[in-house]
Amino acid sequence: MNRDQIDLLQWLVPGLQDVPHSSLYWIERAQRSLAVSTQDRDVYPVVDHTRGKGVWLHDLEGNEYLDMTSGVAVRALGFRPEGIREFEQRISDVIEELPGHDFDNVPHILLAERLAATAPGDFAKEVFFTTSGARAVETAVKAAMDQTGRQRFVAFRPAFHGRTGYALALTASKAVQREGYPQALAVVRAPYAYPFRCPIGEDPQACARYSLDYLRGAIQDEGTDIAGIVVESLGGEGGIIVPPVEFLQGLRETADELGAVLIADEVQSGMGRTGRWWAIEHADVAPDMICVAKSLGGGYPLGATIGRAPMFEKPSRHSETFAAEPRQALLSLFVLRFIEENHLIQNAAKLGQAMMDRLRSELAACEQVGEVRGRGFMQGIEFVDDRRTKAYNPGLRDRIVRNCVFKQKLWVLGSGRSTIRLLPALVTSEEEGMEAVDRFVRAVREETRSVEAAAKVAASTP
Ligand SMILES: Cc1ncc(COP(=O)(O)O)c(C=O)c1O
Repeated sequence: MNRDQIDLLQWLVPGLQDVPHSSLYWIERAQRSLAVSTQDRDVYPVVDHTRGKGVWLHDLEGNEYLDMTSGVAVRALGFRPEGIREFEQRISDVIEELPGHDFDNVPHILLAERLAATAPGDFAKEVFFTTSGARAVETAVKAAMDQTGRQRFVAFRPAFHGRTGYALALTASKAVQREGYPQALAVVRAPYAYPFRCPIGEDPQACARYSLDYLRGAIQDEGTDIAGIVVESLGGEGGIIVPPVEFLQGLRETADELGAVLIADEVQSGMGRTGRWWAIEHADVAPDMICVAKSLGGGYPLGATIGRAPMFEKPSRHSETFAAEPRQALLSLFVLRFIEENHLIQNAAKLGQAMMDRLRSELAACEQVGEVRGRGFMQGIEFVDDRRTKAYNPGLRDRIVRNCVFKQKLWVLGSGRSTIRLLPALVTSEEEGMEAVDRFVRAVREETRSVEAAAKVAASTP
């Protein structure tokens, strides 16, 4: 940490002058003071919040990492993007205390207009601001109930839509997230179209048909009074699953047949990450609502639901104190402008494809790599025991994550049961993207070689 920040911390919280600023020390303090959440402290050291530029971050020991997570798709512009400091200074006189839901302000109106203009569909749209992805989903659910007068929803397995209230009821990602909590919503569950693991084979069209037929059967059995179909346009937490375009198109048709709304959860896949503003555009589908968060706030809490107007007919139905206060809206407008000015969506499409092509060719001979898949800068590598059985291999996946972080100094994340995901910042350069691929491939080779060596020893032991 730089001296300035240590002095600042010391001024705020006296008694820090003699403490060792090491990961071990601060992890011990974190374990005592922070309630258990989603941190994996066995893998990730404490980040030095005073450094970091672009896709490079540092831990307290001074190690430099190539970041392929962008903070779980939050820092689309990387760390300290060009011009951000000057911009933050220019907006420092904004009144921060007047939240947009109670008092209109110009920045949040402009942001709503800009956001609505990015969404597909030739119909009038409006925007509802929130402070998180789960709350963007809650908003969509409440609006769908109001619009249809119904309360039953369709969601998929796997699916991740958040950890609170209605959003949690739609989530089916890991049992631990739901166990013991009553579910607040009636949900008809169907299999997400996941060609690599589709029971009837890997053909994308057949897989889409399978999931859609299953869904239609489930609705007939469980209730046709569906308010909304909620779907990730590209599955994130469940293992970076790219659904066939026919699946998303079939959901649009099903929603229309039922008189339900189609809600695209783009909290992870949106904001240009997949090479289009919204991942659902790859299927040429216009949903009735899009949920967005993560990258939208440029690192700060901001979510939104973009919906077919009017989302709510009656006033005072729904609101959030901190949503779209003017300073946050200005930062978000900066993010949108930066993405467009620097052609970052095109970068995600082109470089993302080149990275996946290289990963596929470099890892082609590796039996434990089941599949490399994704769109743009949303990439997943699924690990299996072997390609014939496709048995999940979480042990190998976890060892590769550790190898990446500890040895290759490559910051990556797990996803689903045995997938590793790469979510590079949209500003990633070709050199950085290819360097990440090289480091990743090295980690995979080292870990799979040791698996093979162990298997040989086991086979030769009488
Ligand atoms: C697709 C999707 N929806 C919703 C959420 C929840 O967002 P938040 O953590 O901001 O509530 C996430 C978070 O990972 C997500 O990936």
